[in-house]
Amino acid sequence: MMKERIEELLAQIDGLKCKNAKEVEEARVKLLGKKGEITGLFEEFRTFSPDLKKEFGRKINELKQAALAKIDQLREQTAVEAASEGPREDLSMPGTPFSLGSRHPVSIVRQEIVDIFRKFGYDVAEGPEIEDDYHVFEALNFPLNHPARDMQDTFFVSVGHPNPLLLRTHTSSVQVRAMETMKLPIRVICPGRVFRNEAISARAHCIFHQVEGLYIDENVTFADLKQAILLFAREMFGPDTAIRMRPSYFPFTEPSSEVDVSCNICKGKGCNICKGTGWLEIMGCGMVDPNVLEASGIDSKKYSGFAFGMGLERIAMLKWQVNDLRHYFENDLRFLSEFNTAIEV
Ligand code: PHE
Repeated sequence: MMKERIEELLAQIDGLKCKNAKEVEEARVKLLGKKGEITGLFEEFRTFSPDLKKEFGRKINELKQAALAKIDQLREQTAVEAASEGPREDLSMPGTPFSLGSRHPVSIVRQEIVDIFRKFGYDVAEGPEIEDDYHVFEALNFPLNHPARDMQDTFFVSVGHPNPLLLRTHTSSVQVRAMETMKLPIRVICPGRVFRNEAISARAHCIFHQVEGLYIDENVTFADLKQAILLFAREMFGPDTAIRMRPSYFPFTEPSSEVDVSCNICKGKGCNICKGTGWLEIMGCGMVDPNVLEASGIDSKKYSGFAFGMGLERIAMLKWQVNDLRHYFENDLRFLSEFNTAIEV
């Protein structure tokens, strides 16, 4: 009888579980309290004959020790759980601030321009920054003696080769690649980094970024070019923006033109940003020269097209009135953090 009770209680103690301190105390009273089961066994034990005492003495003591150890263990465990259950943090406290990065002004402007032309149905194309002479100059109708082909203006990677490698001086090279590979009609814009061998100053840098565009189809006219640029200018600089086209020259377009937009700072009245003229120059453009179409295998009797190109640093300068081009490349956080447009995630 005694033997079974001891074994039963040992198993009970072994499997004992308590959720909190109150339950631990209840278990302790039930086993070891004045009227507890183990206390009861001890009382019974006292009445045993010496033989039986000998037989059960050790077992009953082991039972008591097991009960005490288990209660201790449960006490500790429920105390730890209680401590970790309570309110750990005050969630109404202000958080630790950390600074999010911001997008580079040139990236912001590039994205805006790309978004506008995407709406007009243009694709985006990219090409290599290290190009060959053919795609940067020859296919674009640059005569062999054109000054841009001089080491003074262009960074050459290899010289003395009939088609030397060089750092592209404009992303028109990507337009040549588009004409070579895309099916007509072509509507494409080419954003990218370009390189020119210029002395670095507030107004010039040897690295800058462009977005150039190309549209080729049947019956494309100068009126289409003008309308496309006007729509772009109004999306980019506001609905009241006017444009002005001045005759110009590029080897790859004929006729060619520079485009000015009305100064959105003084609204055309004249200020120090537009140098009192009321106009700001933003891009070059023109009708693609038939020689350029033919060089890429496009029938210039059937197809015509227009092209345009603009510098992103220049547009960002106008947009935020930045007065020194060098800021864009110095990665000074004081400058960069001024363009705190929210980053879309
Ligand atoms: N490629 C010219 C430049 O880099 C810009 C341009 C592109 C002009 C297309 C006319 C047509 O300055």
